[in-house]
Order: sequence, then C-alpha cells, then structure tokens
Amino acid sequence: MGDALIDAARAVQLKAYAPYSRFYVGAAIEVEDGRIFTGCNVENASYGLTSCAERVAVGNAVAAGARKFRRVVVATDAHPPSPPCGACRQLLSEFGNDLIVESVSPKESRSWRLSELLPLSFGPEDLGR
Ligand code: THU
Repeated sequence: MGDALIDAARAVQLKAYAPYSRFYVGAAIEVEDGRIFTGCNVENASYGLTSCAERVAVGNAVAAGARKFRRVVVATDAHPPSPPCGACRQLLSEFGNDLIVESVSPKESRSWRLSELLPLSFGPEDLGR
C-alpha cells in the first residue's frame, strides 16, 4: 500500500540543496486535518546558515496556519535511517509532543515517538503558556 507522506518526503529530498555535505534530506509533515507540508535542507557557503529539512517543513506548515502535527517522515540515504537532529526535535515538539517520527532511506525505515527522542522537552507550558 502506498504512503503519501513517505512519497512526499522522498519527492522533496530530490530538491535538497546540499552541495557541501552531499547529505540530501527531505521532510514531510502530516497535520491534524490531513494536509501535508514539506521541506528540504538548504545549505549555504557560510555553512552555519544551513537550514535542516525539518525546519523548512515546520515553517511551511505554520505559514499555512497548521499547528497540530500528527506525523513526520524524514527521507535520507543514511544507513541506518537517521533520526532528526536535536534542534529539529525541539522545533517539532512545539507543535506535537505525541508526534510520530519516521525515518526512511531507500531500503529501510525506523520510527519513534518524539517524546522518546526528546524526553523532558522544554515547551510552552514551561513558560506558563
Ligand atoms: N540535516 C537535516 O536536514 N536534518 C537533520 O535532522 C539532520 C541534518 C541536514 C543539515 C545539513 O544540510 C546536512 O543534513 C548534513 O548535516
């Protein structure tokens, strides 16, 4: 059976701009109402300005008014499939701590709950919000 979220992550991975690391990443987020938002990593000659794929996808979702994330798929060519970086775990946690995080590479996949990847995260409630 096809999985539209995995297909979207793999499709946007092809758009990754990663001439420095050559580590091409695509991310696709499914939100509460079923819409899908995507992002790829965007590197820069000034290396520290690089944006992760997940960060771009979060921005695209929020800019469209979507704030309740259900599931995110990260597509790479890594073996084994790589989990999101720490900074992206924190960014994702703002919009869904019960989020399912799935990582896919061409032949394998792994998945976690975001709360496993980022236990005791700092969130809006810590600010009293
Ligand atoms: N990268 C992501 O896009 N997401 C992650 O979760 C890990 C790392 C990107 C950043 C950089 O362009 C390349 O992968 C190598 O670190």
